[in-house]
Amino acid sequence: MNLSRLLIFSLCIATAQAQSPINLIPQPVSVQPQPGVFTLTKATTIHYNQADGRVVADMLSQQLNTPTGFGLVAKSGKTGKIQLNLTETPNAQLGQEGYILDASPKGVVITANRPAGLFYGMQTLTQLLPKEIEGKIVTTKTWTVPAVKITDYPRFGWRGIMFDVSRHFFTKVEVKQYIDQLAKLKYNTFHWHLTDDNGWRIEIKSLPKLTSVGAWRVARAGHYGDRAEPKPGEPTPYGGFYTQDDIREVIAYAQARNVTIVPEIDVPGHSMAALAAYPELSCTKAIVSVNPGTAFSDWYGNGTFKMKVENTLNPSDEKVYEFLDKVFTEVAALFPSPFIHVGGDECYKGYWANDPGCQALMKQLNIRHVEDLQGYFMNRVEKILTAKGKKLLGWDEILEGGISPGATLMSWRGIKYGIEAAHAGHNVVMTPTTFAYLDYNQGDPTIDPPIYASLRTRTSYSFEPVPDGVDAKYILGGQGNLWTEQIPTLRYAEYMTYPRAWALSEVYWSPKEVKNWPNFVQRMETHFDRADVAEINYSRAVYDAIIKTSMKDGKLRLELEGEIPGLDIYYTIDDTMPDQFSTHYSQPVDLPDGNVNLRVITYRAGKPIGHLITLTRDALQKRVGR
Ligand code: ACM
Repeated sequence: MNLSRLLIFSLCIATAQAQSPINLIPQPVSVQPQPGVFTLTKATTIHYNQADGRVVADMLSQQLNTPTGFGLVAKSGKTGKIQLNLTETPNAQLGQEGYILDASPKGVVITANRPAGLFYGMQTLTQLLPKEIEGKIVTTKTWTVPAVKITDYPRFGWRGIMFDVSRHFFTKVEVKQYIDQLAKLKYNTFHWHLTDDNGWRIEIKSLPKLTSVGAWRVARAGHYGDRAEPKPGEPTPYGGFYTQDDIREVIAYAQARNVTIVPEIDVPGHSMAALAAYPELSCTKAIVSVNPGTAFSDWYGNGTFKMKVENTLNPSDEKVYEFLDKVFTEVAALFPSPFIHVGGDECYKGYWANDPGCQALMKQLNIRHVEDLQGYFMNRVEKILTAKGKKLLGWDEILEGGISPGATLMSWRGIKYGIEAAHAGHNVVMTPTTFAYLDYNQGDPTIDPPIYASLRTRTSYSFEPVPDGVDAKYILGGQGNLWTEQIPTLRYAEYMTYPRAWALSEVYWSPKEVKNWPNFVQRMETHFDRADVAEINYSRAVYDAIIKTSMKDGKLRLELEGEIPGLDIYYTIDDTMPDQFSTHYSQPVDLPDGNVNLRVITYRAGKPIGHLITLTRDALQKRVGR
C-alpha cells in the first residue's frame, strides 16, 4: 500500500471508530455488540416491574422526552419496549449498583438488584443513543440504540468529586446541575466542601453569625492570593450560603441520582470565616475578616507554611467543643451520609505554640510537640461525631497527631499517606494531587490562567488507586477534587472538571483490565460532541503539544509530545507562524544559542487542532527539568 492509500485507509478506520455508536464512559465490565438496532419512537413504552423502579423510569422518560418531544410516560408493567426490572432474587455479580442492559431490535431490558443499578443502566442507555439526546430542544432524528449486551458493575464503592463552594459560592441550582452531570458518569459521592477561610456556606440555626457574617466578604477581582486586604468598615457583598431547606433539597436531588453527599466542615485550620463570626474561638481572639483571597500565608516549598492571620480554632478552649457540638448536631441531622468530613488539613500550629492555654493543655496531656495537639483535637471531634451516629473522615494530616482506628482518611498529599493509613488498618479514599486535583492546569501553563501545578488528563487516566503492597479492602475508592480559588463560574468549573472527571470515572468504576488510553481518547472525543450538545464546558488541552526542555552538553534541548495518539506537531524558531509546512517534530532538537522564540502547533489529518503555544528562550529555560 502506498503512503496516501495508507493514509486514506487509516482515516477510514479512524472515522469508523469515531462514528461507532458504542462509546461509553466509564467503560463497562463487558460489552458484547449484537446485530441490529432498536429504534425509539413515539410508540415506545417504558415499564418498571416494581414500584422502586419508578423514580428512575420517570427520569428516563423525562430525559428522552426533552429532545425527542415524544411525551413518553413510564408505567408499572412487564411488557415495556424499554423495561426496567428489579430482580426478585438478587444477582450476586451485580451487587448494589450493577446492571445488565440487553438491547435488541425488539427493545431494551435493564435489570438490576437496586434502583441505583437501574439508574446506571439508564445512563448507559442514554449514552447509546445519538448525541442529540443530550439536547435541550426538540430535534428530528432517528433515535437508534445499537443492539448490545452489557454487564456492568463498579470496581469501587466510593466514586467521588469534591466541590469547594467556599472559595467561590455556587448556588443550589448550580450545585444540582453539577451533581446531575457527575451522576451521569456513575459517580456516587459528592463531597461538599462547605466551610473554609473564604466563606461559611451552611446555615447553622444555633450559630446564626456563621452565615450572617461568615458567608460574606468584600468584593475583589484578581488572582487568589494576590488580592487586596479588606478595608475597615468595607461592605461585604460577595458570598452566599445554603439554608437548611436548600441543603435538604440538594440532598433529595442527589439521592434520586444515587449520590451521597458528604459534607465537609474544615477544622481546626481553614476556619477564618468561622472566626470572623466568632473571634473568641481562636487563641489570639483577634478580629479577622472572611478572607477574599489575600496573601495570608507564606509557603516554604516543602509543604510547611506560616499563617500570617490566625485561621485556627483553639484546641484548649472548651467553648470550641461546645461550638463544634452545635455545628455537628445540625450537620448530622441534615445529612444522611454515615461520614462527616472534618478537614484536618493544613492546620498551622504557630498560634497554638504561643498560647498559654495550649501550653497548659500540652502539659496536662503530657504532649511534647504542639503538632500532637491536633490529635487531641481530632479525637474530641470524633467523640462528638460518634455521639451523633456519624463516622469521622478527614484529610491525611489527621494521621499525624494520632487518630482512632475507626477514622477514614483521604490521601491527598500523594498516595504515601494512604499507603501508611491502609497499613495501619484505616479505610482510605484516594484523592492524590498527583492524579486527582482538578484545579490544576490541564495543558500548557501559558494557555490557561496560571495555577501552581499541572495535571494532564492522560495522567489522571493512568491512576491506579490501589498501590502495590496495599490490601485492596482498605481502599474504598477515590475522588477528584475541585478547589475553586480560581474558578468563579459553573461554566469554568465544568471546563476544569472535564475531561479529567471522565478519565477518573473510569479509574473508579471500570475494571483495571479494560482501561486503555487510546481507546478512551476515542470515546472522550465522542463525549466532547455530546458535551457540546448538552452545553457542558470542557477543556481541549489534550490536543495541545506537551513542551519539555532539558540541558544537554550546554545546549537547551527541546522535546515535544502529543498527549493523545495521532497528532502531528509543527514548530518554528524563526519568528514565523507555524503550520503544516513548518518543521514536523520527530525527535529532540538542540536549540541554537540566542534569543529564539519557539512556536508550536498541533495538526490532525491535515487540520490545525491544538492551541498555538509561544515560548521565549527564557520561558523554555525555566522549564528545564520540570
Ligand atoms: C487540601 O488540598 N488542602 C486537602
